[in-house]
Amino acid sequence: MITSSIPIQVQKVQKSRVTDVNVNEVPFGKVFTDHMFIADYKDGEWSNFKIIPYQHLEMSYAMSALHYGQAIFEGMKAFRQDNGDVVVFRAKDNWARLNRSAHRMAMPEVPEEVFMQGLLQLLSLDKKWVPDSENGSLYIRPFMIATEEAIGVKISNEYQFIIIAAPAGVYYAQPIKTLIQNTFYRSVKGGIGYVKAAGNYGRSLYPTKLAQEKGYQQILWTDAETGKYIEEAGTMNVMFVKNGVLVTPGLNETLLAGITRDSILKLARKQDIPVEERKVSIEEILNGIESGEVTEAFGVGTAATVAHITAIGYEGKDYVLPPLEQRKLSPMFDKQLRDIRKGRIPDEFGWLTKVE
Ligand code: COI
Repeated sequence: MITSSIPIQVQKVQKSRVTDVNVNEVPFGKVFTDHMFIADYKDGEWSNFKIIPYQHLEMSYAMSALHYGQAIFEGMKAFRQDNGDVVVFRAKDNWARLNRSAHRMAMPEVPEEVFMQGLLQLLSLDKKWVPDSENGSLYIRPFMIATEEAIGVKISNEYQFIIIAAPAGVYYAQPIKTLIQNTFYRSVKGGIGYVKAAGNYGRSLYPTKLAQEKGYQQILWTDAETGKYIEEAGTMNVMFVKNGVLVTPGLNETLLAGITRDSILKLARKQDIPVEERKVSIEEILNGIESGEVTEAFGVGTAATVAHITAIGYEGKDYVLPPLEQRKLSPMFDKQLRDIRKGRIPDEFGWLTKVE
């Protein structure tokens, strides 16, 4: 529960840029809304809360985030409902996960009132930027960076927490082909795989590039200990349907606890669809595709929502899944999430917060 109100100084743009942009057509993550929220942290305290025109960073080239990677982020979305209302999806879950990331990266936690009031005031000012197309949303990027000017390897004494937002359409224009990756690993036991640290994404780019050169859009990460178990799909969690059961790798310290993953599991359980969160081996999935037992594979994440996987590549062979028209559960979850967000069916889980 939010216990106190924070003083946010607001400096509005003189003229909004929104009329120069077709918010339903912009490429993902390239065009940002008029304003941004910033809070500063120094000597154990958050202060200086402000909403200002979206602008570039003026910082020391010696700031710690740039050198030692104390940088964490969240991905979340706001939607325009059919009646014109703007709602934000599972905002408090993103706040809680940001703080789990902060804890692991020895960064300060962001108080709930700073996160929620900064977010809701920013969205209220930039409401016009929320697309009204069927698959459109406002992608919101809260993040924290270590800003102390210090080259020594140590915990920074200064940070900024920032929220920026960008209108977005679909993340993957087409269903994706994925390549099983067991040369490079995303995460190890005791590492930072379960948090949303910038470095987890930086390290994924080279193996993804290699997969893309072979015609795959994403990689399927496996566990670093044995290389036998599937963990995630590129920047998303991954799910399979095997004999009508929704199967997904169980959470542990090497997997990100995705909020879309959790939403789909909750929707499935509510409808008495059998769910298994457990270890999922490469062998099980590839044999299952060949025998016809595995009928669906899909990535789930905030940016992509549901990304259908058409084929999985392994050791020079593609294991092709049934065509999209034959899939039942993944399109159903995609539609149910959209219907909740668009206000077409009741928000039974209390996932939406209205932006005033
Ligand atoms: C998200 O789905 O929000 C992500 O963080 C993945 C990617 C855009 C970095």
